[in-house]
Amino acid sequence: MISIKDLSFSWPDGTRAIDRITLAVAQGSSMGIVGANGAGKSTLVNHLNGYFLPQEGSISIGGTIVNKKNLDRIHRVVGLLFQNPDDQLFTARLYDDVAFGPENLGMDRAMMATLIEEWLRALNLWELRNKPPGHLSQGEKRFAAFASILVMQPEVIVMDEPTADLDPKNRRKLINLVNALTMTKVTVSHDLDFVWDICERVCIMNQGRIVEEGPTREILSQRELLEANNLELPLRLQR
Ligand SMILES: Nc1ncnc2c1ncn2[C@@H]1O[C@H](COP(=O)(O)OP(=O)(O)O)[C@@H](O)[C@H]1O
Ligand SMILES: [Mg+2]
Repeated sequence: MISIKDLSFSWPDGTRAIDRITLAVAQGSSMGIVGANGAGKSTLVNHLNGYFLPQEGSISIGGTIVNKKNLDRIHRVVGLLFQNPDDQLFTARLYDDVAFGPENLGMDRAMMATLIEEWLRALNLWELRNKPPGHLSQGEKRFAAFASILVMQPEVIVMDEPTADLDPKNRRKLINLVNALTMTKVTVSHDLDFVWDICERVCIMNQGRIVEEGPTREILSQRELLEANNLELPLRLQR
């Protein structure tokens, strides 16, 4: 479903954030991307919906090349959940934020209203629908950002540090939600226990490169490999 070939990206100041990455993600599978702060995880996943376009190398999603010309199609297929939910919520009312994407896609009105209500109810946000997103708690903002992506029914969902601002109960709720979603999923996280619970495969990034890729439980149980990449064993393996 996702094919990244020899992708490189440098910031205007010369920082090479992505260094010749090649990665494939199978349709309907769940891929985790782990690595220390600054490894390039956000820069990489911000390429998957065309937020950044490849400087070198290429990306294709479901056979569509990610380039300027195909951006409309890519936006329909890939839902990207930013690291900071404040970057996703920008209208004066939660409901309008969630309606923004489907409206832009030209979705049928009745279908849109049904989907929005379903997701807002499923995520316990329906009662909050008239609130300004700025007045929501961090956890509520996180689920609101999720709702705004899920109502567009993407074939691929990309999540950047989705547990960062969640308490244990909401974290568990998110695990259950993500595991119930059947589309292709890519998750960036340094919460390795979360990755353990939701990803079939995982890759480790370090300084813009992928240093290892494989089945989650195989990769995340290698203490030396993790430590060499400034990560620690998942808590469940530390006992
Ligand atoms: N706007 C920017 N200008 C220059 N360098 C940046 C910018 N944003 C991020 N970087 C650099 O790019 C690298 C990768 O950052 P990022 O993708 O945010 O890493 P991660 O998400 O893994 O923490 C880091 O070295 C970071 O300092
Ligand atoms: Mg990041």
